[in-house]
Amino acid sequence: MYRIYDLQCNNMPFPQGIDDAKPTFSWKLDSDQQDTYQVSYRLRVYLEECMVWDTGFIKSDKTFDIPYQGEKLKSGQLYFWEAESINNYGEKASSTTAKWQTGNIESRWLMKWISTGEARKEIVDCVSAEAIFAGAVKSLDKPEEVLDSPVYFRKEIGIEKEVKHAVAFATAKGIYDLQIDGQSVSHLFAPEYTSYNKHLEYQTYDVTKLLTPGRHGIGVILADGWYTGKIGLMGVGNQYGERNSFYLQIEVTYTDGTKELLGTDESFKWSYGGYRYSDLFVGEYYVQAKELTGYSKTGFDDSSWKQVVASVGGFDILQGQSITPARVVKKIVPEILCTPKGEVVLDAGANIVGFTRYEGPCEEEVEISFEHSEVLDQNGNFQQNILGQHKNQKDRILPNKTGIITYKPKFTFHGFRYVLLEGIKDPKAEDFEIWVIDGGLERTGSFVTSNEDINQLQENIYRSQQGNMLFVPTDCPQRERAGWTGDMQVYAPTATFNMDVLAFLKRWLKDMRLEQKMDGQIPNVIPAIDSNKYIDGEGQDEVSSAGWGDACVIVPYRLYQAYQSKEVLKDNFQMMCRWMDYVESKVSQEGLWDTGFHFGDWLIPSIMKATGNPMETAMKTKEEVASAMYAYTTEIMIDICNVLGEKKRAEHYLALNQKTRTSFSIKYISSDGRMRNDLQGLYVLALGMRLVDEHKRQACVRHLVNLVHENDDCLDTGFLSVPFLLETLYEEGEKELAYTLLFQKKSPSWLYAVTKGATTIWENWEAIRPDGTRTNSSYNHFAFGCVGEFMYKHIGGLEAVEAGYRKIKIAPDINCGLDWAKTSYVSRYGEISIDWDKKSGKLEVKLPPNTSGEIWWNGKTMEIGNGRYLLK
Ligand code: BGC
Repeated sequence: MYRIYDLQCNNMPFPQGIDDAKPTFSWKLDSDQQDTYQVSYRLRVYLEECMVWDTGFIKSDKTFDIPYQGEKLKSGQLYFWEAESINNYGEKASSTTAKWQTGNIESRWLMKWISTGEARKEIVDCVSAEAIFAGAVKSLDKPEEVLDSPVYFRKEIGIEKEVKHAVAFATAKGIYDLQIDGQSVSHLFAPEYTSYNKHLEYQTYDVTKLLTPGRHGIGVILADGWYTGKIGLMGVGNQYGERNSFYLQIEVTYTDGTKELLGTDESFKWSYGGYRYSDLFVGEYYVQAKELTGYSKTGFDDSSWKQVVASVGGFDILQGQSITPARVVKKIVPEILCTPKGEVVLDAGANIVGFTRYEGPCEEEVEISFEHSEVLDQNGNFQQNILGQHKNQKDRILPNKTGIITYKPKFTFHGFRYVLLEGIKDPKAEDFEIWVIDGGLERTGSFVTSNEDINQLQENIYRSQQGNMLFVPTDCPQRERAGWTGDMQVYAPTATFNMDVLAFLKRWLKDMRLEQKMDGQIPNVIPAIDSNKYIDGEGQDEVSSAGWGDACVIVPYRLYQAYQSKEVLKDNFQMMCRWMDYVESKVSQEGLWDTGFHFGDWLIPSIMKATGNPMETAMKTKEEVASAMYAYTTEIMIDICNVLGEKKRAEHYLALNQKTRTSFSIKYISSDGRMRNDLQGLYVLALGMRLVDEHKRQACVRHLVNLVHENDDCLDTGFLSVPFLLETLYEEGEKELAYTLLFQKKSPSWLYAVTKGATTIWENWEAIRPDGTRTNSSYNHFAFGCVGEFMYKHIGGLEAVEAGYRKIKIAPDINCGLDWAKTSYVSRYGEISIDWDKKSGKLEVKLPPNTSGEIWWNGKTMEIGNGRYLLK
C-alpha cells in the first residue's frame, strides 16, 4: 500500500494563526514496495468548500517545503488542504484532510493596547552570580510585599445579529488569560516568550460559537510573565519594559454580510483581583476572598473599577503564533510521602515541568502552600535546590471559607519532582494532580536496547528536552529558564532526533537574528536579557562567548542536516557571516581567537571538584576552546557556502580554516602530541575538530587515552567538548574506550546519574555526590544529553549521509556490548526503522520512499534503495 500521511503546514500539523502569505506544505510517504519514488504530486487547498488552489499533478519528487501559490489568503480563516502522490508503480495515495488557520494576514491593527498606566516594580538585585551559585542568596521572604498583582480587565459587548464568523487576535506585553462569558479561550502562557521589543507574537482564536446574538462579557487577566517578571539568573524584573498591556481585536462577520470590529480601547475597565501576585519564577499567591467571581460574564458590577489607559503603536513587530502552542501533556496523580522530619511531600515520580492542581478540603484563612523542588536530601527530607533570590517556586492559596477548594496556578510553572505541602490536614493523593506541560513538539525518535540503564538514559534525555523545549530552548526549567545559546548548540543533533524541532528552532533563530548586535555579536542568551550584564560584567563590550555565539552557525547547520531545509541556511546566512566577521576581527594574525572572555570548556568535572568555581574552567581553557571553535565554524561555513552557492565566501573560510588549524597545532600541541593544557576536553576538541597535524595525531590520541585511564576510565570533559568525546575516541580507533565511558557507572559518567535514580539530565555530573549529598544545581539541563547523538548513530546505527536523511547510512555496531537495539526515526521523508539482534544475527531495516541507503553489516557494505530489508 502506498500511503501519504503527516501533512504539515509551516512544519506544524495544525498551525493556528500563522500570517505568512505563502505558508509551506509537507507530507510523508510510506510504501510496502521496494524502491518507491514519488513521480508527481497534487495539492488542493479549500476555503469554505471553495477551492483556492489546485496545483494539478506536478511532475516532482518534492514532498516538503512547497510554498502556497494560490489565491490571496484571507485573515482569520480555517483553510483545508489535501495532497495526492503518484509513485513509480503508478499507485496513487490520497491524504486525509489537514488544516491551518490564518492570522491577521493583512496586518490591520485597529484597536488599542490597554493598561493600568502604572509601572511594575523592578527589584534591583545587588547580588552577584557567584553569590547565587554559592547558595548565599536567600529566596524572597515575603513576596507579597514586593511583587505587583495581576490585573483584571473587563467590558461587555452586544451582538445584535446572527454571526457567520468571528475571529479574535490577542496578544500582550505580559501573559494573559482571555475569557468570554466565563470561558477561557486563550493558549497556555500566551503570547509565550520571544524577543518582545523586536518580535511579539499574537494568537488567533475562532470565537464564532461564543458570540451568539445578545450580550457577552469579555474578561482578561494579565500577569507579568517574561515581560516584566523576575526572569533569568538574576531575577531582575522589567527586562522588556515597565508596563504590561493587552491587545484584543475581534472581527465579526454577520450572516447578512456586514462586518463589525470589536476589541480593546478606552471603554475597558481594570481592577486587581484574586491573585495577590503571580510571577513565572517566584510563584503565585491566590487570595480567594479577593476573587472577582463572574468578572468575565455579563451583569458583573464593575462600578468601582478604574478606566484603562489606551494607546496605539508598536504593531510592526507583531507576528502570528509561529510554533505549536504549549500544552498540558500529562496529568499525574502523585504519591504522598511523609519525610523523616515529618513533612508531607508529593512525589510526581519523575522530574517534570508543570504545576500542581488541588481539589480538596481547606479551612477558612488557613494558607495552603505548594513548594516545588527537584530533590529530597540524603535523608529523604525536602530540599529546596533552586538557587536565586526570586526562585521561591512556591504557590500559595488563602481560602476564605472552610470547604472544598479547586485551584491550579494560572501564570506560573515550575521544574520539579517534589512538592512540599503545608496547610492541608490529612491530604489525600487523589486530591492532587501534577499537570505536565510541554511545547507540543512531535516525538520523532525512539531508541530502545537490551540495556535498561541505556534506555533510562535515553528517556532522561527525552524528558529533559521536553521540559526545556518550551517557548524557547532553555538551559533549565527552574533556575534560569533562559535561551542559553551554547546549550542549544551542543544539544542540537540529539534534539533533532528526539523531536521535530524545525518550527520551534526557526522561531528562536529569528530572535537570534533580531538580537544580533551592530558589531555582529550574538548575545549568550536569546531572547537577550539585559540583566545578564550582571553576569557578563557591567559596561563590558563583549556579550558573546565562543561556543555560545557560534550557535548562530551551528544550529542552522544542524537543522539543515536533519531537515534538508535550505531555507534555514538562507534565512540565517547574513547573521552567520556577520558573526564570523566579528570573530575574524578578534582573532590574531595567526588565526587564533585568543582575546576576550569565553566560557571555555565550561564545567570540567575535575576543576569543578577542586575549586567549585565554573569560572576556573573558563579561564583555564578559553583560549584553546575559542580557537578550536573558530576552526570548527569556519569549516561549517565552507559547507554552508557550498550549499548556498556562495563560492567566494567558501574560499574565504577555507583560507581562514587552514590558517587556524595550522596555528592551533603549532601553538597548543607540542611535537610529542601533548597539549599545552593537559585536559581531556582539549584533546577531544583538537582531535574531533581535526586540528592536529597528522604526524602528531597518534601521540595525541595516546595522551587522551591515558588521561581517561588515569581518571579511572571516567570522562573529564566540559560543556563544549563532551559532544565530541565518544565520537572522537570511536573514530580514532578507541571504540572500546568509547563504550567503557558510555557504560561507565562511576562518577563522572552518564550512567552514574541513572544509578542515582535520575529521571532527567543533570547540569553537573555530581549533582548528587557519591556520598549521597544533594547539591543545589539544576537537575534538568539537556546539554549533557548530547550523548544521544552517539547512541543512535552507533548503537541504533542511524546516520544521515545526505541532508534530511535522503541518503541514510545504517551501521549499527553489533560489538557495542548490547544484545539488541530497535531504533525508529520519523524523518521528513517518512519513518526509518533499524532493528538488530546480535544472537540471531538479524538486521531489519525500513527506509521510506524517495530515500536510499547504505548498509554496513557483518563487515560488508551494501547500497540499497528504500523499502524493507532483512539481513542475516
Ligand atoms: C547556565 C548554562 C549556561 C551557562 C553559561 C549557566 O548558568 O545554566 O547552562 O550555558 O550558565 O556558561
